[in-house]
Amino acid sequence: MALKCAVVGMGGIGNTHAGIYKDNPLSELVAVCDIVKEKADAAAEKLGVKAFYSLKDMLAAMPEIDVVSVTTSGYDNGSMHFEPAMEALQAGKNVLVEKPICADVRDARELVTYAARNKLRLGCNLNHYFTEPADRAMEMIQQDKIGELVYCIHKVGFNGSETKYTGPGSPRWQTPYSHVKAFCAHPFSVMRYFCGDIVAVQAFLSKPGVRATKRDPMLSINSIHVKFADGGVGYLISQRGDAMFGLGGWWSYEHAGTKGTFCIENCVEKLHFWDIDKMTGPASMASPAPETINTGVSDFGATFPTRLNAFLEDVTNNVPHEHIRASGRDALATLEYTFAAIDSYENGGALVVPYRLPPLHGDISRVF
Ligand SMILES: NC(=O)c1ccc[n+]([C@@H]2O[C@H](COP(=O)([O-])OP(=O)(O)OC[C@H]3O[C@@H](n4cnc5c(N)ncnc54)[C@H](O)[C@@H]3O)[C@@H](O)[C@H]2O)c1
Repeated sequence: MALKCAVVGMGGIGNTHAGIYKDNPLSELVAVCDIVKEKADAAAEKLGVKAFYSLKDMLAAMPEIDVVSVTTSGYDNGSMHFEPAMEALQAGKNVLVEKPICADVRDARELVTYAARNKLRLGCNLNHYFTEPADRAMEMIQQDKIGELVYCIHKVGFNGSETKYTGPGSPRWQTPYSHVKAFCAHPFSVMRYFCGDIVAVQAFLSKPGVRATKRDPMLSINSIHVKFADGGVGYLISQRGDAMFGLGGWWSYEHAGTKGTFCIENCVEKLHFWDIDKMTGPASMASPAPETINTGVSDFGATFPTRLNAFLEDVTNNVPHEHIRASGRDALATLEYTFAAIDSYENGGALVVPYRLPPLHGDISRVF
Protein backbone atom coordinates (compact mmCIF):
# COMPACT_ATOMS: atom_id res chain seq x y z
CA MET A 1 0.00 0.00 0.00
CA ALA A 2 1.27 3.48 -0.88
CA LEU A 3 2.82 5.47 1.98
CA LYS A 4 0.82 8.48 3.09
CA CYS A 5 3.13 11.49 2.76
CA ALA A 6 2.93 15.09 3.90
CA VAL A 7 5.22 18.08 3.40
CA VAL A 8 5.96 20.88 5.90
CA GLY A 9 7.26 24.13 4.38
CA MET A 10 5.75 24.95 1.01
CA GLY A 11 8.47 27.05 -0.62
CA GLY A 12 10.07 25.99 -3.90
CA ILE A 13 11.65 22.86 -2.46
CA GLY A 14 8.55 21.82 -0.50
CA ASN A 15 6.52 22.02 -3.70
CA THR A 16 9.16 19.86 -5.40
CA HIS A 17 8.89 17.18 -2.67
CA ALA A 18 5.08 17.34 -2.77
CA GLY A 19 4.96 16.92 -6.56
CA ILE A 20 7.28 13.91 -6.33
CA TYR A 21 5.15 12.24 -3.63
CA LYS A 22 2.10 12.85 -5.79
CA ASP A 23 3.70 11.17 -8.82
CA ASN A 24 5.57 8.26 -7.18
CA PRO A 25 3.58 4.98 -7.04
CA LEU A 26 5.12 4.18 -3.63
CA SER A 27 3.52 7.26 -2.10
CA GLU A 28 0.29 9.15 -1.81
CA LEU A 29 0.49 12.87 -1.04
CA VAL A 30 -2.17 13.55 1.60
CA ALA A 31 -1.39 16.98 3.10
CA VAL A 32 0.77 20.09 2.92
CA CYS A 33 1.58 22.53 5.70
CA ASP A 34 2.97 26.07 5.88
CA ILE A 35 2.72 28.72 8.57
CA VAL A 36 2.00 31.15 5.74
CA LYS A 37 -1.64 30.38 4.91
CA GLU A 38 -1.44 31.55 1.28
CA LYS A 39 1.48 29.19 0.57
CA ALA A 40 -0.24 26.18 2.12
CA ASP A 41 -3.51 26.99 0.36
CA ALA A 42 -1.87 27.52 -3.05
CA ALA A 43 -0.01 24.20 -2.85
CA ALA A 44 -3.06 22.34 -1.53
CA GLU A 45 -5.23 23.63 -4.34
CA LYS A 46 -2.67 22.82 -7.03
CA LEU A 47 -2.04 19.31 -5.67
CA GLY A 48 -5.58 18.49 -4.57
CA VAL A 49 -4.78 17.76 -0.91
CA LYS A 50 -5.61 19.22 2.48
CA ALA A 51 -3.82 22.38 3.74
CA PHE A 52 -2.63 22.90 7.31
CA TYR A 53 -1.06 25.96 8.92
CA SER A 54 0.62 24.18 11.81
CA LEU A 55 2.37 20.83 11.94
CA LYS A 56 0.77 20.08 15.32
CA ASP A 57 -2.71 20.41 13.78
CA MET A 58 -1.71 18.30 10.78
CA LEU A 59 -0.33 15.47 12.92
CA ALA A 60 -3.39 15.52 15.17
CA ALA A 61 -5.89 15.59 12.29
CA MET A 62 -4.18 12.94 10.16
CA PRO A 63 -2.62 10.24 12.35
CA GLU A 64 -2.45 7.99 9.29
CA ILE A 65 0.50 9.98 7.86
CA ASP A 66 3.56 7.72 7.40
CA VAL A 67 6.18 10.12 6.03
CA VAL A 68 6.83 13.80 6.70
CA SER A 69 9.20 15.84 4.53
CA VAL A 70 10.60 18.86 6.38
CA THR A 71 11.37 21.52 3.78
CA THR A 72 11.46 24.63 5.92
CA SER A 73 14.52 26.88 5.66
CA GLY A 74 15.65 29.70 8.04
CA TYR A 75 19.07 31.29 8.36
CA ASP A 76 21.88 29.22 6.83
CA ASN A 77 18.95 27.47 5.09
CA GLY A 78 18.52 25.16 8.07
CA SER A 79 17.67 26.98 11.32
CA MET A 80 13.97 26.08 10.94
CA HIS A 81 14.55 22.34 10.49
CA PHE A 82 14.96 21.17 14.09
CA GLU A 83 11.53 21.92 15.59
CA PRO A 84 9.31 20.43 12.86
CA ALA A 85 11.65 17.44 12.35
CA MET A 86 11.66 16.70 16.09
CA GLU A 87 7.89 17.17 16.32
CA ALA A 88 7.32 14.72 13.47
CA LEU A 89 9.76 12.20 14.99
CA GLN A 90 8.03 12.52 18.36
CA ALA A 91 4.79 11.61 16.59
CA GLY A 92 6.55 8.43 15.39
CA LYS A 93 6.77 9.45 11.72
CA ASN A 94 9.41 8.58 9.13
CA VAL A 95 11.06 11.96 8.54
CA LEU A 96 12.98 13.22 5.54
CA VAL A 97 14.62 16.54 6.36
CA GLU A 98 16.21 18.90 3.86
CA LYS A 99 19.88 19.76 4.13
CA PRO A 100 21.65 21.08 6.12
CA ILE A 101 20.10 18.85 8.74
CA CYS A 102 20.20 21.82 11.17
CA ALA A 103 22.03 25.14 11.31
CA ASP A 104 23.42 24.33 14.77
CA VAL A 105 25.33 21.08 15.14
CA ARG A 106 24.06 20.61 18.71
CA ASP A 107 20.49 20.49 17.39
CA ALA A 108 21.54 17.96 14.75
CA ARG A 109 23.17 15.74 17.39
CA GLU A 110 19.98 15.85 19.46
CA LEU A 111 17.78 15.02 16.48
CA VAL A 112 19.92 12.10 15.36
CA THR A 113 20.23 10.77 18.91
CA TYR A 114 16.47 10.98 19.41
CA ALA A 115 15.81 9.10 16.16
CA ALA A 116 18.38 6.39 17.01
CA ARG A 117 17.17 5.89 20.59
CA ASN A 118 13.60 5.52 19.40
CA LYS A 119 14.54 3.44 16.34
CA LEU A 120 12.91 5.92 13.98
CA ARG A 121 13.87 6.53 10.37
CA LEU A 122 15.37 9.97 9.89
CA GLY A 123 16.66 10.64 6.37
CA CYS A 124 18.16 13.74 4.81
CA ASN A 125 17.92 14.97 1.25
CA LEU A 126 21.60 14.45 0.42
CA ASN A 127 20.56 14.13 -3.20
CA HIS A 128 23.88 14.78 -4.97
CA TYR A 129 24.93 11.13 -5.01
CA PHE A 130 21.58 9.67 -6.02
CA THR A 131 22.61 9.70 -9.66
CA GLU A 132 23.58 7.26 -12.38
CA PRO A 133 27.23 8.43 -12.51
CA ALA A 134 27.55 7.96 -8.73
CA ASP A 135 25.93 4.49 -8.94
CA ARG A 136 28.33 3.41 -11.71
CA ALA A 137 31.33 4.89 -9.87
CA MET A 138 30.37 3.02 -6.69
CA GLU A 139 30.09 -0.21 -8.69
CA MET A 140 33.64 0.36 -9.98
CA ILE A 141 34.91 0.89 -6.41
CA GLN A 142 33.16 -2.30 -5.28
CA GLN A 143 34.59 -4.23 -8.27
CA ASP A 144 38.09 -3.05 -7.17
CA LYS A 145 38.68 -1.14 -10.41
CA ILE A 146 39.76 1.97 -8.51
CA GLY A 147 41.94 0.49 -5.78
CA GLU A 148 43.13 2.34 -2.73
CA LEU A 149 42.18 6.02 -2.55
CA VAL A 150 45.05 8.38 -3.31
CA TYR A 151 43.11 11.66 -3.45
CA CYS A 152 39.74 13.16 -4.26
CA ILE A 153 39.02 16.68 -5.43
CA HIS A 154 35.52 18.11 -5.34
CA LYS A 155 34.84 21.47 -7.02
CA VAL A 156 31.28 22.61 -6.55
CA GLY A 157 29.18 25.71 -6.07
CA PHE A 158 27.72 28.41 -8.28
CA ASN A 159 29.18 30.16 -11.31
CA GLY A 160 29.29 33.96 -11.16
CA SER A 161 31.52 37.00 -11.30
CA GLU A 162 32.17 40.40 -9.79
CA THR A 163 29.85 42.06 -12.32
CA LYS A 164 27.03 39.59 -11.73
CA TYR A 165 27.19 40.00 -7.93
CA THR A 166 24.02 41.74 -6.73
CA GLY A 167 24.85 42.40 -3.09
CA PRO A 168 24.10 40.59 0.17
CA GLY A 169 21.21 38.17 -0.15
CA SER A 170 18.07 37.65 1.94
CA PRO A 171 18.34 37.25 5.75
CA ARG A 172 19.05 33.52 5.42
CA TRP A 173 22.40 34.39 3.79
CA GLN A 174 23.41 37.12 6.23
CA THR A 175 25.74 35.12 8.46
CA PRO A 176 29.45 34.50 7.76
CA TYR A 177 28.95 30.75 7.58
CA SER A 178 25.75 30.62 5.52
CA HIS A 179 27.42 29.16 2.43
CA VAL A 180 29.56 26.57 4.20
CA LYS A 181 26.59 25.44 6.33
CA ALA A 182 23.86 25.58 3.71
CA PHE A 183 25.80 24.13 0.83
CA CYS A 184 28.77 22.03 1.97
CA ALA A 185 26.50 19.25 3.25
CA HIS A 186 26.37 18.22 -0.41
CA PRO A 187 30.08 17.96 -1.30
CA PHE A 188 30.94 16.49 2.11
CA SER A 189 28.21 13.87 1.60
CA VAL A 190 29.64 12.93 -1.80
CA MET A 191 33.21 12.70 -0.47
CA ARG A 192 32.07 10.57 2.48
CA TYR A 193 29.96 8.34 0.22
CA PHE A 194 33.01 7.45 -1.88
CA CYS A 195 35.84 7.75 0.66
CA GLY A 196 34.37 7.11 4.11
CA ASP A 197 34.64 9.05 7.34
CA ILE A 198 36.79 12.16 7.61
CA VAL A 199 39.13 12.30 10.59
CA ALA A 200 40.94 15.63 10.14
CA VAL A 201 39.99 18.97 8.59
CA GLN A 202 41.90 22.14 7.74
CA ALA A 203 40.09 25.11 6.22
CA PHE A 204 40.55 28.59 4.83
CA LEU A 205 37.32 30.52 4.32
CA SER A 206 37.30 33.81 2.47
CA LYS A 207 35.36 36.21 0.25
CA PRO A 208 36.26 38.43 -2.69
CA GLY A 209 36.70 42.20 -2.35
CA VAL A 210 33.34 43.01 -3.91
CA ARG A 211 31.53 41.25 -1.05
CA ALA A 212 33.70 42.99 1.54
CA THR A 213 32.96 46.39 -0.06
CA LYS A 214 29.22 45.70 0.02
CA ARG A 215 29.48 44.56 3.68
CA ASP A 216 28.31 41.07 2.79
CA PRO A 217 29.16 38.89 5.82
CA MET A 218 29.16 35.62 3.84
CA LEU A 219 32.47 33.77 3.59
CA SER A 220 31.64 32.55 0.11
CA ILE A 221 34.95 30.85 -0.70
CA ASN A 222 35.54 27.61 1.21
CA SER A 223 38.85 25.81 0.72
CA ILE A 224 38.90 22.64 2.80
CA HIS A 225 41.56 19.94 3.06
CA VAL A 226 40.68 16.60 4.67
CA LYS A 227 42.14 13.24 5.68
CA PHE A 228 40.04 10.07 5.52
CA ALA A 229 39.95 7.37 8.20
CA ASP A 230 40.64 4.65 5.63
CA GLY A 231 43.58 6.52 4.07
CA GLY A 232 43.78 9.04 1.27
CA VAL A 233 43.28 12.78 1.28
CA GLY A 234 40.67 15.07 -0.17
CA TYR A 235 40.23 18.66 -1.22
CA LEU A 236 36.96 20.55 -1.41
CA ILE A 237 36.72 23.95 -3.06
CA SER A 238 33.33 25.58 -3.03
CA GLN A 239 32.35 29.14 -3.94
CA ARG A 240 29.04 30.88 -4.30
CA GLY A 241 28.95 32.89 -7.49
CA ASP A 242 32.29 34.67 -7.17
CA ALA A 243 33.95 33.14 -10.24
CA MET A 244 33.40 30.75 -13.14
CA PHE A 245 34.43 27.16 -12.53
CA GLY A 246 36.89 25.97 -15.19
CA LEU A 247 37.35 22.31 -16.13
CA GLY A 248 34.42 20.19 -14.95
CA GLY A 249 32.00 23.10 -14.61
CA TRP A 250 29.91 23.84 -11.51
CA TRP A 251 30.07 20.28 -10.15
CA SER A 252 33.01 17.96 -10.62
CA TYR A 253 34.34 15.16 -8.46
CA GLU A 254 37.64 13.46 -9.25
CA HIS A 255 38.59 10.29 -7.39
CA ALA A 256 42.03 8.84 -8.00
CA GLY A 257 42.96 5.37 -6.84
CA THR A 258 45.95 3.09 -7.18
CA LYS A 259 44.15 1.12 -9.95
CA GLY A 260 42.04 3.70 -11.74
CA THR A 261 40.59 7.18 -11.62
CA PHE A 262 37.06 8.40 -12.18
CA CYS A 263 35.62 11.84 -12.55
CA ILE A 264 31.94 12.81 -12.39
CA GLU A 265 31.01 15.92 -14.34
CA ASN A 266 27.91 18.01 -13.71
CA CYS A 267 26.61 15.66 -10.98
CA VAL A 268 24.07 13.88 -13.17
CA GLU A 269 25.69 14.07 -16.58
CA LYS A 270 28.97 12.25 -17.20
CA LEU A 271 31.29 9.68 -15.71
CA HIS A 272 34.85 9.35 -17.02
CA PHE A 273 37.06 6.41 -16.13
CA TRP A 274 40.81 6.22 -16.63
CA ASP A 275 41.97 2.61 -16.41
CA ILE A 276 45.56 2.16 -15.19
CA ASP A 277 45.79 -1.05 -17.25
CA LYS A 278 45.38 1.06 -20.39
CA MET A 279 48.41 3.15 -19.49
CA THR A 280 51.16 2.30 -21.94
CA GLY A 281 54.75 1.92 -20.84
CA PRO A 282 56.05 2.93 -17.42
CA ALA A 283 54.36 5.48 -15.20
CA SER A 284 54.54 8.67 -17.18
CA MET A 285 52.88 11.95 -17.96
CA ALA A 286 50.79 10.41 -20.75
CA SER A 287 47.21 9.59 -19.69
CA PRO A 288 45.16 7.08 -21.65
CA ALA A 289 41.91 8.36 -23.11
CA PRO A 290 39.09 7.91 -20.58
CA GLU A 291 36.04 5.74 -21.12
CA THR A 292 33.08 8.11 -20.82
CA ILE A 293 29.46 7.41 -19.96
CA ASN A 294 27.15 10.23 -20.91
CA THR A 295 23.79 9.72 -19.21
CA GLY A 296 22.00 12.22 -21.44
CA VAL A 297 20.71 13.87 -18.25
CA SER A 298 21.83 17.43 -17.61
CA ASP A 299 19.11 18.69 -15.27
CA PHE A 300 20.29 18.58 -11.66
CA GLY A 301 16.61 18.50 -10.63
CA ALA A 302 16.60 14.82 -11.63
CA THR A 303 18.32 14.06 -8.30
CA PHE A 304 15.20 14.89 -6.26
CA PRO A 305 12.83 12.13 -7.49
CA THR A 306 15.65 9.58 -7.31
CA ARG A 307 16.59 10.45 -3.75
CA LEU A 308 12.98 10.65 -2.52
CA ASN A 309 12.26 7.33 -4.21
CA ALA A 310 15.16 5.77 -2.25
CA PHE A 311 13.64 7.00 1.02
CA LEU A 312 10.21 5.68 0.02
CA GLU A 313 11.77 2.32 -0.88
CA ASP A 314 13.60 2.13 2.46
CA VAL A 315 10.42 2.87 4.40
CA THR A 316 8.29 0.52 2.27
CA ASN A 317 10.84 -2.27 2.71
CA ASN A 318 11.02 -1.66 6.46
CA VAL A 319 14.78 -1.12 6.30
CA PRO A 320 16.09 -0.77 9.88
CA HIS A 321 16.58 2.87 10.87
CA GLU A 322 20.38 2.60 11.00
CA HIS A 323 20.62 1.20 7.46
CA ILE A 324 18.53 3.66 5.48
CA ARG A 325 20.34 5.52 2.73
CA ALA A 326 21.45 9.14 3.37
CA SER A 327 20.37 8.95 7.01
CA GLY A 328 20.22 11.71 9.58
CA ARG A 329 23.49 10.32 10.94
CA ASP A 330 25.07 10.69 7.47
CA ALA A 331 23.82 14.29 7.41
CA LEU A 332 25.17 14.86 10.93
CA ALA A 333 28.59 13.71 9.69
CA THR A 334 28.55 16.44 7.03
CA LEU A 335 27.62 19.05 9.65
CA GLU A 336 30.37 17.85 12.01
CA TYR A 337 32.88 18.34 9.15
CA THR A 338 31.39 21.77 8.46
CA PHE A 339 31.76 22.80 12.08
CA ALA A 340 35.29 21.40 12.10
CA ALA A 341 36.04 23.57 9.04
CA ILE A 342 34.63 26.63 10.81
CA ASP A 343 36.71 25.82 13.89
CA SER A 344 39.82 25.45 11.74
CA TYR A 345 39.17 28.76 9.96
CA GLU A 346 38.64 30.55 13.28
CA ASN A 347 42.00 29.19 14.44
CA GLY A 348 44.00 30.28 11.41
CA GLY A 349 43.75 26.99 9.49
CA ALA A 350 44.59 24.71 12.42
CA LEU A 351 44.05 20.98 12.12
CA VAL A 352 40.70 19.98 13.65
CA VAL A 353 39.42 16.49 14.45
CA PRO A 354 35.65 16.39 13.83
CA TYR A 355 33.43 15.51 16.81
CA ARG A 356 32.71 11.78 16.95
CA LEU A 357 29.53 10.40 15.40
CA PRO A 358 27.05 8.40 17.48
CA PRO A 359 27.67 4.66 17.16
CA LEU A 360 25.89 3.00 14.27
CA HIS A 361 24.92 -0.11 16.20
CA GLY A 362 24.15 -1.01 19.77
CA ASP A 363 22.54 0.85 22.62
CA ILE A 364 23.07 4.54 21.95
CA SER A 365 22.02 5.47 25.50
CA ARG A 366 25.25 3.90 26.79
CA VAL A 367 27.26 6.48 24.89
CA PHE A 368 25.15 9.64 25.16
N1 LIG B 1 18.67 19.28 -1.63
C1 LIG B 1 18.81 20.28 -2.48
O1 LIG B 1 19.36 20.16 -3.56
C2 LIG B 1 18.26 21.63 -2.11
C3 LIG B 1 18.26 22.68 -3.02
C4 LIG B 1 17.76 23.90 -2.60
C5 LIG B 1 17.28 24.06 -1.30
N2 LIG B 1 17.31 23.00 -0.45
C6 LIG B 1 16.81 23.12 0.94
O2 LIG B 1 15.39 23.14 0.93
C7 LIG B 1 14.92 23.86 2.07
C8 LIG B 1 13.80 24.78 1.65
O3 LIG B 1 14.29 25.74 0.75
P1 LIG B 1 13.29 26.80 0.07
O4 LIG B 1 14.16 27.65 -0.78
O5 LIG B 1 12.14 26.10 -0.54
O6 LIG B 1 12.82 27.62 1.36
P2 LIG B 1 11.66 28.71 1.50
O7 LIG B 1 12.08 29.63 2.58
O8 LIG B 1 11.30 29.27 0.18
O9 LIG B 1 10.42 27.84 2.01
C9 LIG B 1 10.33 27.38 3.31
C10 LIG B 1 8.88 27.45 3.76
O10 LIG B 1 8.77 26.90 5.06
C11 LIG B 1 7.77 27.61 5.77
N3 LIG B 1 7.95 27.34 7.21
C12 LIG B 1 8.95 27.74 8.03
N4 LIG B 1 8.79 27.21 9.26
C13 LIG B 1 7.68 26.45 9.23
C14 LIG B 1 7.01 25.62 10.18
N5 LIG B 1 7.48 25.45 11.43
N6 LIG B 1 5.92 24.96 9.78
C15 LIG B 1 5.42 25.09 8.54
N7 LIG B 1 6.01 25.87 7.58
C16 LIG B 1 7.13 26.53 7.92
C17 LIG B 1 7.99 29.03 5.35
O11 LIG B 1 6.83 29.84 5.56
C18 LIG B 1 8.32 28.87 3.86
O12 LIG B 1 7.17 28.97 3.05
C19 LIG B 1 16.14 24.53 2.69
O13 LIG B 1 16.52 23.85 3.85
C20 LIG B 1 17.24 24.38 1.64
O14 LIG B 1 18.53 24.23 2.20
C21 LIG B 1 17.77 21.80 -0.83
